[in-house]
Amino acid sequence: MVAPVVDAEYLKQIEKARRDLRAFISFKNCAPIMLRLAWHDAGTYDTKTNTGGPNGSIRSEEEYMHGANNGLKIAIDFCEEVKAKYPKITYADLYQLSGVVAVEVTGGPTIDFVPGRKDSLISPREGRLPDAKQGVKHLRDVFYRMGLNDKDIVALSGGHTLGKAHPERSGFAGPWTEEPLKFDNSYFVEMLKGETEGLLKLPTDKALLEDPEFRHYVELYAKDEDAFFKDYAVSHKKLSELGFTPKSSGSKTEAKTSTVLSHSAVGVAVAAAVVVLSYFYEAHRRIK
Ligand code: HEM
Repeated sequence: MVAPVVDAEYLKQIEKARRDLRAFISFKNCAPIMLRLAWHDAGTYDTKTNTGGPNGSIRSEEEYMHGANNGLKIAIDFCEEVKAKYPKITYADLYQLSGVVAVEVTGGPTIDFVPGRKDSLISPREGRLPDAKQGVKHLRDVFYRMGLNDKDIVALSGGHTLGKAHPERSGFAGPWTEEPLKFDNSYFVEMLKGETEGLLKLPTDKALLEDPEFRHYVELYAKDEDAFFKDYAVSHKKLSELGFTPKSSGSKTEAKTSTVLSHSAVGVAVAAAVVVLSYFYEAHRRIK
C-alpha cells in the first residue's frame, strides 16, 4: 500500500473525474449503487486493528463475493470505465469520490472530499458489514467498531433515501421512499409514518425507532431537512475517511500557519502593551 502523490496533476485528474462522474451517474441513473459501493468499501473499517476501510479492496473478487456485497460488481465495473481515463487516481479515492458525487447529483448536500487514500487488495473477513435482519445492539456493535457514533448511524441510514432493495441481491424488495433518485429527508418522514404499501423498512431501519437516542435523530431529521443535510455531510465525510489521515493540503497548511501567525501576533501585541503600560506606570510613579 503506497499513498498516491497528491500533486497538481492528481488534483486535476480528480476534478476531471468528478465532472465525468456527474455526467455518467446522471446518464446511467446509478447514484444509489455508487453510494452503496462507497459505503461498503469504507464500512468494513475496524478501529482496533486499523484494517478494512475505504481502500478499494472491494474490487477484489474475494470481497465483492461477500453476501452483503451482492450486486456491487456492477458499480465496480462502472468505476473501471472512469479509472481507465484517470489511471493516477486510486480505486480507494475513486469509489469515495463516486459516493460523494452520487449524493450531490441527486440533490443531497455537498460533501467535502480530500484525496490521497491508499489502495489495498487485502480484504477483511466476511461479516463486518451490518446484517439487515438484526437490531439496535448489532447496529451499535458494527458502527462503533468503525469509530462512528449514534448520530452517524442515524444520519448515514438516511442514505436509504436513495435506491431500492433487489430480491435477487439481498432477499428484500422495493424502495424506501417514493422518489428513490432524489436525496432528501423523506426516508425519515416515511419511517415515522409507519408501514406504507410498496415501501421498504428493514429490521435495521425499524431499530432506529425503537431506541430513544436513535429516535431523537429520526424525529429531528424528519422535521428539519437542513439539520439532516448538515449532519449527513459530516458523517459521510467521516465514513469516507475511516483509517485515512489526509496529508495536510496546501490550504490547510496555510490555515494552520496563519493561525500560528495570528497567535504570535496576539502574543507580540500583549507583550508590547505590557511594556508600554509598565513604562507609564513607572513614569507616573516618578512624577508622584
Ligand atoms: C445501517 C445499516 C445498513 C444496512 C443493514 C443496509 C442494508 C441494505 C440492504 C439490504 C440493501 C438492499 C441491497 C439490494 O438488494 O440491492 C441496501 C441498499 C442500499 N443501501 Fe444500505 N444498509 C445500511 C446502511 C447504509 C448506509 C450507511 C448507506 C449510505 C450512506 C446505505 C446506502 C444504500 C443504498 C444507496 C442502497 C440502494 C442500492 C441500490 O439501489 O442498488 N446503506 N442497504
